Amino acid sequence: MRFEVRPIRVEFGAELEGFDVRDLDEQDVRKLVDVLADRGVVVARNQRLAPDEFVALMRRLGPLEYSVRDEFHLPENPDVYVISNIMENGKYIGNPFDGFGWHTDMNFCERPTAYTALYGLEVPEEGADTRFCSAFRAYDLLPEERQAFLRGIQVRHSHDMLHATRRNAPPLTAEQRARAPDVVHPLVRTHPHSGRRCVYLGPKCAVPLGMAEEEGIRLLDELLALATDPGHVYSHRWRVRDLVIWDNRGMLHCATEYDRQKYRRLLHRVTVGGERPF
Ligand code: SIN
Repeated sequence: MRFEVRPIRVEFGAELEGFDVRDLDEQDVRKLVDVLADRGVVVARNQRLAPDEFVALMRRLGPLEYSVRDEFHLPENPDVYVISNIMENGKYIGNPFDGFGWHTDMNFCERPTAYTALYGLEVPEEGADTRFCSAFRAYDLLPEERQAFLRGIQVRHSHDMLHATRRNAPPLTAEQRARAPDVVHPLVRTHPHSGRRCVYLGPKCAVPLGMAEEEGIRLLDELLALATDPGHVYSHRWRVRDLVIWDNRGMLHCATEYDRQKYRRLLHRVTVGGERPF
């Protein structure tokens, strides 16, 4: 199979045409990795993906990652994390609350996620888009002197701080806390394949080191505002059987609201672990 790559926006994003996840040879996988490095987020429509096939696809991009929170894994395949507002036997079958607010995944880990993929099984007719923007673009926009200043800054990322912002989340167990101690990453990271630099931003659970807290928060807010400029955001309107994969190092994403009383939403998610940011 040879698939075509059609840019979604000038700055980032690509739709893959003629792509079938069950029919990828080694050359196709290498091309997918290159397109992810180059375009940041890819969309493939009309994919038929059983959980095992989804997991097998993502394993070809690298070793899978296990989430700190394990209550939303698919029982028959724990490599798949479920996002959903559907209730069965009085319990959500997936996580209905996370992802609302710009973030990258697993920034609080020593080796944060390299790739995240979502697959749409049930999607609302309106709302619930997933938005993307590029932190490479934000870095490129800065004057050289500012870029050099930012390259000297280290940032502490804290899963405990993130968890405290979660709606209705049960307290973490001691074991879950131990799995995610605070970590320090550079504020500017380099993409391991392309060599391109981006500002490395997580959700609001990070503190730059060596500056007053207020100043640090202002700095991160300023960079986040630059990256998330609404004129440079791709909003993915879900269709059933969409597969969306993004390179998590420099693509920020966020979920958007929908009418939870009216619509059901069910997405599967699989993530691939990455390198220590440098
Ligand atoms: C996520 O943040 O991984 C989920 C995004 C979404 O639910 O749209």
